[in-house]
Amino acid sequence: MKLLIFAGSTRQHSFNRKLARVAAQLAQDSGAEVTHIELADFDIPMYNADLEARGTPADVMRLKQLMYEHPAWIICSPEYNASYSALLKNTIDWASSPVKSDPDWTDEFKFSRGKVVGILSASPGALGGLRSQSHLAPLLLNVQCWVAPRNFALGHAGDAFDAQGQLVNDAHRKNVQAVIDQVLFAAQRLAA
Ligand code: FNR
Repeated sequence: MKLLIFAGSTRQHSFNRKLARVAAQLAQDSGAEVTHIELADFDIPMYNADLEARGTPADVMRLKQLMYEHPAWIICSPEYNASYSALLKNTIDWASSPVKSDPDWTDEFKFSRGKVVGILSASPGALGGLRSQSHLAPLLLNVQCWVAPRNFALGHAGDAFDAQGQLVNDAHRKNVQAVIDQVLFAAQRLAA
């Protein structure tokens, strides 16, 4: 199963980027064909329809194609003001805007329809970014994704990783694994 993993943060020492790395390793060990991307590697400006009218950025097209090619995704979501990051919103907004000049991409939800998505989050706070998930899930449903009911929010993230970026608490690792297992299971069932 092809699984796409990314975090909604570009911060150098981002907890969500660390969590994405852990999830990528666990998913690979579970037999998934993992593509772990960093949103920092995509040159995507803030969405503006005037800008889009001059042509959809090449990196938006690259991201749409990647998302389309992966039936399963894991998103690691930071929390800002009890919601998900502007980076995640901007990324999904660009991806979901139909490219009228390209017959392959006039369907707004071609990139996302039927994808099984697992949501993880991490925050230095006690709730672990859980409130970001309650906003991110409806956004994903709106673009026709199947959001996995199992989720995990990593609280007190500043104490959760060792110097190598591994989760120090085995219970946390098991929770990440449970989300991965459910996403892979559901994506396989949907593909059958
Ligand atoms: C935050 N942060 C935060 N954390 C949280 O658990 N709930 C929240 O509502 C907020 N709100 C918030 C607003 C603003 C303006 C800032 C700057 C920060 C803290 C934030 O989640 C924390 O910096 C994380 O470490 C960001 O994620 P990454 O970059 O570590 O993945």
